[in-house]
Amino acid sequence: VTGPLDRLEQVRIAREAEGLRRRLVPRNEDFDGLLDLASNDYLGLTRDARLAAAAAAAADRWGTGATGSRLVTGTTALHAEAEEAFADFCGAQSALLLSSGYLANAAVLTALAPAGSLIISDAINHASIVDACRAARADVVVVPHRSADAVDDALAAAGSRQPLIVTDAVFSVDGDAAPLRALLSSARRAQAWFVVDEAHSLGVTGPGGRGALVEPDGSELVDPGEPIVRTATLSKSFGAQGGLVVGPQTVIEHLADQARPFIFDTALAPPSVAAALAALRILQDEPGRAAAAVQHAAHLASIAQSMGLDAPMPEAAVVAIRIGEPRAALEAQRICRDHGVLVGCFRPPSTPDPVSRLRLTARADLDEPDLARIGAALASVAQHLGV
Ligand SMILES: Cc1ncc(COP(=O)(O)O)c(C=O)c1O
Repeated sequence: VTGPLDRLEQVRIAREAEGLRRRLVPRNEDFDGLLDLASNDYLGLTRDARLAAAAAAAADRWGTGATGSRLVTGTTALHAEAEEAFADFCGAQSALLLSSGYLANAAVLTALAPAGSLIISDAINHASIVDACRAARADVVVVPHRSADAVDDALAAAGSRQPLIVTDAVFSVDGDAAPLRALLSSARRAQAWFVVDEAHSLGVTGPGGRGALVEPDGSELVDPGEPIVRTATLSKSFGAQGGLVVGPQTVIEHLADQARPFIFDTALAPPSVAAALAALRILQDEPGRAAAAVQHAAHLASIAQSMGLDAPMPEAAVVAIRIGEPRAALEAQRICRDHGVLVGCFRPPSTPDPVSRLRLTARADLDEPDLARIGAALASVAQHLGV
């Protein structure tokens, strides 16, 4: 008889043969001397001394952990200050911090889409949204990627079920953007909840990084009283850790009252809250950081395109280069590494289709020599692929 460990070993062997194994590889504090384009540190703030100082001061004052869940002992004055600051930044009535972006999506979908309601979810939404849909007891309709028409069809078929539309604002693998204006009109017409995950847009897109629901001239696409909820993470642009929900006061109060991923989870640790708040203050003082990340992304994509690589023009700070077969993508990643550049390699099932990709994060703090080094690495990749 084969035991459970033998069966796992067979799974491992099969994945190894397909080039799909994933491994934990510890890095050192300077990314092993490599130029880091693999992380999500969009604004280059994770190693900023001001964030470290804020985190250290918070550890000193409030402790290294939050001591309990938010409804018991885990809500400090620091949490309240950060929630007010993020709500303000997002032009929202209210905000709630959770211990991760993953849990922010879980909290929102489970609390707003109970049994008997209907969730309409983009096919390429982040795994945390997929899992949140599963955890909510609603019916779920998965619609083709970026298809506002398919969302309208699903809304038309909602019947008496309260609908909720959920989408990433910027999709995490390819960095492409959701048709937010069309979805917003559909949601308004159908009186549906509209949930937008701004993990890859808050801090990056919109004027001063205010996100995907703010026009270039600074006007908001959304009225704070509308049933529109945004989730985000503090682990990317904001250089820290934690999840964020912003929206109408009624929604935030409902989450605090009923969302299990909020209630039964120890509060975000004070050093993370303080670091994220420091990052927000820096972004407000230096709003050009957001635009720099987006400009660098466009620049990197045009370099890749000029070399014949398949790199769609990015809508935020993620540059995806479609390579093909998983092993070819791993080889392309290794070539970049040989040039001193660390890039992400996304293979199925982390990709929306069978095409494996390189994923480059165009951080705000890249300089000319960095961009030249990346250009040389991509030239070698193009040469290797024979494009
Ligand atoms: C679109 C999106 N949503 C949610 C998350 C989850 O956020 P966290 O890492 O804070 O759990 C991520 C990535 O981590 C993401 O890319």
